[in-house]
Amino acid sequence: MAEAPKRVRIRHFQSAKQQGIKITGLTSYDVLTAQIFDEAGIDFLLVGDSAGNTVLGYDTTLPVTLDDLIPLTRGVVHGVKRALVVADMPFGSYETGPDEALHTAFRFMKETGAHAVKLEGGVRSAEQIRRIVEAGIPVMAHIGFTPQSEHGLGGHVIQGRGAAAEQLLADARAVEEAGAFAVVLEMIPAEVARRITAEVSIPTISVGGGPHCDGQLVVWTDWAGLSSGRIPKFVKQYANLRQVLLDAAHAFKADVESGAYPDEAHSYSDETAESALRDRTT
Ligand code: KIV
Repeated sequence: MAEAPKRVRIRHFQSAKQQGIKITGLTSYDVLTAQIFDEAGIDFLLVGDSAGNTVLGYDTTLPVTLDDLIPLTRGVVHGVKRALVVADMPFGSYETGPDEALHTAFRFMKETGAHAVKLEGGVRSAEQIRRIVEAGIPVMAHIGFTPQSEHGLGGHVIQGRGAAAEQLLADARAVEEAGAFAVVLEMIPAEVARRITAEVSIPTISVGGGPHCDGQLVVWTDWAGLSSGRIPKFVKQYANLRQVLLDAAHAFKADVESGAYPDEAHSYSDETAESALRDRTT
């Protein structure tokens, strides 16, 4: 976002789209990454139910509960000064209807301080979006590949190819009409994302939706090279944190075993004026 608001609000998403300025988003699940991404000027942080994979060790997002995500979201909210924090509504917390969806959104807003919520589904979730928005809570929609439906969709399959593009357009129009302030387009062909971005007035946020969207969102552990195993084709890796941490852990183990750590510099003497803390090494 070129405009550098003190705090990112949903109106800044709208003005970014109108001015052709790209919006940036990363997932975050804790206060420390939230502080770093916020300091870097990332516009919004999603406390995704991808925490199921990245924090809790599940194979899918399906087992994640609202009670799992509430403390994580609270931590992220505590870490930001500027970024908009979006809380992800987990599987089983909104599908039965608008009342359930509003109840979940209320819990996120009251118990975490999040600034918006996200839920999956286009036409099928439009009534839930409308009810939450009417209560004054901003909603980010999510269409295309929706991980909570991965069994119904037959696995990690690119959505919206061929004739299915028309259904995606209908989904995008439905969430726009229901009042969503932005819509995530996950794993769809770039050309379909380009059409949707041109046809809806709300910003489109790509998660594997190609370069024509109004913004880009990535699961941070993939982007920073912390995740193990395969990562989606659309993820560009900006760091190799897994290797950095592995090297650090090896070095620590070797130092402790050899007696090199702790040395005098990392031990307390009996001088009373000595401080218990020191500045970090950068
Ligand atoms: O949970 C998540 O991280 C998400 C993004 C991948 C869109 O839903």
